[in-house]
Amino acid sequence: MIIKSWPAELGPVICIVGARPNFMKMAPILRAFAAHVPAIPTLLVHTGQHYDKDMNDRLFEDLRLPHPDINLEVGSGSHAVQTAEVMRRFEPVIDTYRPSCVLVVGDVNSTLACTLVAVKKGIPVVHVEAGLRSYDRAMPEEINRVLTDQIADLLYTTERSAENNLIREGIAPERIRFVGNVMIDSLLSLLHNREFARAPTDTVAANGRDPELLTSDAGYGVVTLHRPSNVDDPETLTSLLGVLRELAQQLPLVFALHPRTRANIERFGLGPLIDNPQLILLPPQGYLEMLGLMAGARIVLTDSGGLQEETTALGIPCLTMRDNTERPITVEQGTNTMVGRNTSAIRQQADEILAGRGKQGRLPELWDGHAAERIAADLAAWLLDRHFVNAKA
Ligand code: UD1
Repeated sequence: MIIKSWPAELGPVICIVGARPNFMKMAPILRAFAAHVPAIPTLLVHTGQHYDKDMNDRLFEDLRLPHPDINLEVGSGSHAVQTAEVMRRFEPVIDTYRPSCVLVVGDVNSTLACTLVAVKKGIPVVHVEAGLRSYDRAMPEEINRVLTDQIADLLYTTERSAENNLIREGIAPERIRFVGNVMIDSLLSLLHNREFARAPTDTVAANGRDPELLTSDAGYGVVTLHRPSNVDDPETLTSLLGVLRELAQQLPLVFALHPRTRANIERFGLGPLIDNPQLILLPPQGYLEMLGLMAGARIVLTDSGGLQEETTALGIPCLTMRDNTERPITVEQGTNTMVGRNTSAIRQQADEILAGRGKQGRLPELWDGHAAERIAADLAAWLLDRHFVNAKA
């Protein structure tokens, strides 16, 4: 169907962001919706789950995300409180704006909360990055993924394994569309645009550390750690910080500390473990800084979902300090290796990488920088079809 402008009676697509990993996924989607013919009208709602300048404002700037139209300002809280507050505050937004659908990304508490509200009000939900499964129900994100996918109407997937997961859970194949990875859209568009690149030495210097730490022949590594399963238990955190301290004897490690991790290190009195000249502790970094740091690193150690994918796209060997991954393609085709919390496995795999035997990997299917355009085309067709069918009825 070819039309020049979006039907006035068909409301906007309400796009939800809440926490840091949502921002890099939403940026290319909003751009693709604006560029689509006809332009797909959107309303950007930020739940306020992440609110710090470091966790929020800098990423909005780096990704050139527009200011949210609405900020629900829920802030931090237990899972129940955070989820409930998002639901309570999001409901009137739907009543006011009568959207054509609600689009959610990823697996954070805001994703599930907004999905529940919309579905119960009869508004279709579109989930981008659907079908990923760690099969570990102790992860809050896994609960968010399973429940969101069960009740959302359209499920856009990043890798083929996701479709199998969804079908196993009884989801009809016609609800599932394999489109590729919008987070990689963000990465590729910024990487190709050199004017945005941030040199790792500048990032370290901007935080008051000696940039020459990164320029020796040893190179450097990058670390992030924030999963509750790794940082909320003092014994686990002690053992992981211990292995990082050992590895730092071989090469400097740039460690961008999530607020949860920083708070727990203080609470458990583990400060002395990270007091080491070769451990370069930074606050949470902007998107361009993180990309620059990762692109120049010899090794990345993480428990983040996003970094597993970004290192695969960059071709940088990654050790994931978790027992499972919901992103198996990064292990099968990319540069990712799962090492759990087993300190000898971490040391052994790090030695392999530093000896030049890390995985080279390749870009997975449809991680080509055009996933958001595919979503825009497919979603516009779906919404317009429904609209005109309903109008006829
Ligand atoms: C959330 C997501 C997780 C994602 C991560 C990225 C859920 C269940 N988890 O976890 O999937 O990988 O974001 O960061 O949604 N805090 C601040 N400033 C902020 C935000 C949080 O200081 O801007 C602190 C607060 O003390 C808060 C803690 O970090 O209690 C945890 O924040 P929360 O949003 O609950 O979950 P994350 O661990 O960030």
